[in-house]
Amino acid sequence: MKKEKSSFELQGRRALVTGASRGIGKAIALTLASHGADVVVNYHSGAEGACDTAMTMEKEGEESWIYPADISDFDDVMKMRDSVMENFGRIDILVNNAGMNIDTFFTKMTPEQWDRVLSVNLDGVFNCTKVFIDDLKESDQGRVINISSVVGVTGNMGQVNYAASKAGIIGFTKALAREMVRYNVTVNAVAPGFIGTDMVQNIPEVVQEKILKTIPMGRFGEPEEIAEVVAFLASRRASYITGTVINVNGGYHI
Ligand SMILES: NC(=O)c1ccc[n+]([C@@H]2O[C@H](COP(=O)([O-])OP(=O)(O)OC[C@H]3O[C@@H](n4cnc5c(N)ncnc54)[C@H](OP(=O)(O)O)[C@@H]3O)[C@@H](O)[C@H]2O)c1
Repeated sequence: MKKEKSSFELQGRRALVTGASRGIGKAIALTLASHGADVVVNYHSGAEGACDTAMTMEKEGEESWIYPADISDFDDVMKMRDSVMENFGRIDILVNNAGMNIDTFFTKMTPEQWDRVLSVNLDGVFNCTKVFIDDLKESDQGRVINISSVVGVTGNMGQVNYAASKAGIIGFTKALAREMVRYNVTVNAVAPGFIGTDMVQNIPEVVQEKILKTIPMGRFGEPEEIAEVVAFLASRRASYITGTVINVNGGYHI
């Protein structure tokens, strides 16, 4: 059964969330659905997690669709676009969430480690946006929402590749926002601080404790705390916001 009107009123809106098999992407997909959107769940290797995301949304009465694609591979992303449009008909909201990290000090970083992180995190945003941009222009209020990182603003030791990719997303967001204004497509980024997903849980515990001491709120964020900001940006209430980066980091960087 369809839900009653939600605060962000995304009923009738169609979204695609990359990397929605777990973590922040899963929370974004479920939150958009809880506000009434129908959602395509993209994943790479986590088929089980993606099915779980989709089944949860369907139980809530929202339509969903799952599609595997390596976002770093343009042809794969193009195939995803064709299948999504054939089966789903329309995309109003693109959330470029999928990302990864391979952390090591710059002196030890190999060209392959640099390339892989840049190709997933930054080429992936280019590929997905490139293939869907004409479809988003067809929407009366298209939305591109990119997940950057606080690290793209502040830098971080051991994350030269990751920080460069996340800073690149911010430049991409600002430039594309200017180009898309005339089509009523807004382009924004969210820059999370440290959020309690696999990405942070994989950091050695002693380092996690050190990071916690640097966060004024004294805790890691919840994926849902990012997802609600994305839902707001996706909604018609955010109609006058474009080219911005919203920091959600518990005061870690002000
Ligand atoms: N957690 C944090 O503290 C934090 C902070 C700032 C920014 N972020 C950003 O937030 C986003 C989500 O992070 P997270 O913490 O939720 O990470 P996560 O738990 O590691 O999940 C990463 C997601 O990205 C997908 N993915 C990875 N490579 C992919 C590829 N080549 N093609 C398609 N999907 C791919 C994964 O899919 P499969 O599992 O299906 O492979 C998974 O769904 C990332 O962009 C990350 O950089 C996270």
